[in-house]
Amino acid sequence: MNFSKQLIHWYHEHKRALPWRNTTNPYYIWLSEVILQQTRVSQGLPYYERFVESYPTVDTLAAAPLEDVLKLWQGLGYYSRARNLHAAAVQVVDQGGIFPSNYKDLIKLKGVGSYTAAAIASFSYNEPVAVIDGNVYRVLARIYGIALPINSTQGVKEFQKLAQQLIDKQDPATYNQAIMEFGALQCVPKNPDCHRCPFNKECIALQQQRVEELPVKLKKTKVLNLHHHYLVTVTPAGHTFLQQRDATGIWAGLYEFPFIESAGALLPHELTQDPMVQEVYDGVRFRESVYNQEPIIHNLSHRKIHAYFWIIETDQEMPGSLTIDQARSKPLHVLMERFMTNYWK
Ligand code: ADE
Repeated sequence: MNFSKQLIHWYHEHKRALPWRNTTNPYYIWLSEVILQQTRVSQGLPYYERFVESYPTVDTLAAAPLEDVLKLWQGLGYYSRARNLHAAAVQVVDQGGIFPSNYKDLIKLKGVGSYTAAAIASFSYNEPVAVIDGNVYRVLARIYGIALPINSTQGVKEFQKLAQQLIDKQDPATYNQAIMEFGALQCVPKNPDCHRCPFNKECIALQQQRVEELPVKLKKTKVLNLHHHYLVTVTPAGHTFLQQRDATGIWAGLYEFPFIESAGALLPHELTQDPMVQEVYDGVRFRESVYNQEPIIHNLSHRKIHAYFWIIETDQEMPGSLTIDQARSKPLHVLMERFMTNYWK
């Protein structure tokens, strides 16, 4: 099948008349794309019209007070987009007022990512760079039966490669508009009308009855914040104390300083009043000091550990304590190693 030709044919018959499709002015296209990243077409239209009317050129936008731009943006949410819009306008004016004319330079503008740069480069300058947004992922995942998650590294790479192969090199602007419009109107997320689809003979998802399953998106599991307060014992002889983790979970069987968990940073008296601290140092008098006020951050796939190290100097030896050398020769997990390397250089 000649995918791009068929797609463009469909587009000419079904496209909506939208004001940013009647221009190749990169400034207007940029405005429309930034607004449309934030909202759907029907809600974005009046915003687009107000922006074009209030700031007909990039110079007028750059010269406007940021407050006014934010006011005009009001209701769209995510105000950093509006701030970036203004900052990028200033950037363009500072570079001589000429809008960048290719993907490589466009992507250097504040707030302009690969999607927006590809949209402007293709719509304004006919540069053959494929746009990839949610619509494009859906269309390609279904027609080509691709189950790689669209938010995985490999998925992003594969979709990018395919999209770039498919783009019509003669007419990248129309092709890019067409594939997005196809996703917005025909290959919709829920209950698409596949009977009327021009690709229903070829669509792998339809053949395999997987239309509703594709595209696949990995659910981002929420990262849990954990605050670990490690107790670094230092006895009068300079010995320390480690415990071994149990045989399951992360760092199974590795050694570490005993620690307590809390909801956040702790004050010294909150640490010393903790029952677990009282138990570890039962009957021992000690003086504590904080090694790091700012936690050391360790990221795991589902957890973010904020590690604090407390130096606890005791007034007597403790049973089971180790010399520093013994401690360092134990199998340690990465946080312990990092700490010991810094502290016991
Ligand atoms: N959504 C994002 N870009 C668009 C465009 N150029 N036309 C229609 N919808 C869009």
